[in-house]
Amino acid sequence: MNEKAAWGVLGMGVMGTSLSRNLARKGIRLALYNRFLQGEEEGVAAQRCIAYPELAAAQPFEDLEAFIQALETPRKVLVMVPSGSAIELVLEQLIKFLSPGDILIDGGNSHFEATEKRAQLFENVGISFLGMGVSGGEEGALNGPALMVGGERKAFESLSKVLSQIAADNPQGVSCLGHFGTGGAGHYVKMVHNGIEYAEMQLLAEVYECINSHIQPNWSLLNQWQHTKSQSYLLGITATIVSFQEKKGLLVHQILDKTQHKGTGSWSSISAVAQGSPATMIQAALNARYTAAQKEYRVKMAGELPVQTVSIPLDEAVLKKAYDLARWINHHQGFELLKAAKSTYAWSFALSEAAKTWTAGCIIQSRLMQELTLILDSQESLLETVAFKKIYAENISSLEAVLSWSLKAQLPMPVMSAAAQYLFSIRQANSSGNLIQAQRDYFGGHGLEWKDSREGNHGPWKQRS
Ligand code: 6PG
Repeated sequence: MNEKAAWGVLGMGVMGTSLSRNLARKGIRLALYNRFLQGEEEGVAAQRCIAYPELAAAQPFEDLEAFIQALETPRKVLVMVPSGSAIELVLEQLIKFLSPGDILIDGGNSHFEATEKRAQLFENVGISFLGMGVSGGEEGALNGPALMVGGERKAFESLSKVLSQIAADNPQGVSCLGHFGTGGAGHYVKMVHNGIEYAEMQLLAEVYECINSHIQPNWSLLNQWQHTKSQSYLLGITATIVSFQEKKGLLVHQILDKTQHKGTGSWSSISAVAQGSPATMIQAALNARYTAAQKEYRVKMAGELPVQTVSIPLDEAVLKKAYDLARWINHHQGFELLKAAKSTYAWSFALSEAAKTWTAGCIIQSRLMQELTLILDSQESLLETVAFKKIYAENISSLEAVLSWSLKAQLPMPVMSAAAQYLFSIRQANSSGNLIQAQRDYFGGHGLEWKDSREGNHGPWKQRS
């Protein structure tokens, strides 16, 4: 009879397989499960054990009860199936076979509110449920992802040794594993990670368009930036992507410009709206994806509304400075969203803890993120820091120049514009909000506040009955 396995991994897709290989390489005895779907998914877990030498000793299953029985108690089951109906179905089946004291970990991109509900449901029957955001894609999952965990602290602690073994270590040797609070905290932090990711990706897409609009585009530029303080994982892969040349030109030019998304960017945007936390860059990036998805309509409109512009050169150093400043504002908005959520959901993690978890293994790892781990230790509002004030003073004119250029070139830069508009608004001591208050009061009698000490809370607009 086989020795019982220490961990079970359920779901042998790309992420489930890679995490299993990572666990096995750390010497964890595994049981692997994948569902049986005739003609589509047959013997998948067994195939993984043959395909990957590190999984040779793992026990493969496609019978859920047998899989659960193969685990030592208290059981630890890492569920790696898509969020939504897929995980819902799996959890419904799993609850029948688990016992009090067991620990379930959802490593998918589930919505944090769903995780909150599931944690409660499982807790009611004595089972711990952890929601764990996993970032870094296939390579990260295999060699060291960033892990953002939420749920009961005690359950987390019983797993933290193994989780820190499989998580990435940052260049200072700090593990990119964080516990962020109860219920859906881990999935919330992962969701905001993805929101920041959306805006970082779109900023790079806008830089790409700027470079592309030149008569002789300098595609080595991004690679040069990668050797400066602008370094990031996303900049690095973008520099690599644009280095793929074909006879016809860049390979990337052969990819259809029709963007997709799996939902976390819209969840971040919705949550930011609910929290009243301006995450304008995440929202602009999300809308840019929606607009990009409307390919047929864009092609039609391009024929109907021709661009009336001339090609104008743009200084590369100016573009870089604008990009660097916009990235700071994106990170500021992301951390402000986390701050608002911490207060709403009574999570007590430090923002620097989130930054630390994002310094390696994940998609938004960067030199800036490393810098932010130290900065956020002493100051939780990035715009108020000495470091930001310096970059603001040095780069604001470049941001203005790039956006003026984009207007003249009639080139869309929604995320960089959102960065500038946020900055212009947040540093404005006297805004136009007074007029909005007056309008609301005029048409709806909603009331207003005066700057001086006059009586009443309505304007003299009309006779009130
Ligand atoms: C990560 C990524 C990942 C995300 C994909 C696709 O951290 O590894 O954020 O979790 O699911 O990048 O996301 P979209 O389909 O929404 O772009």
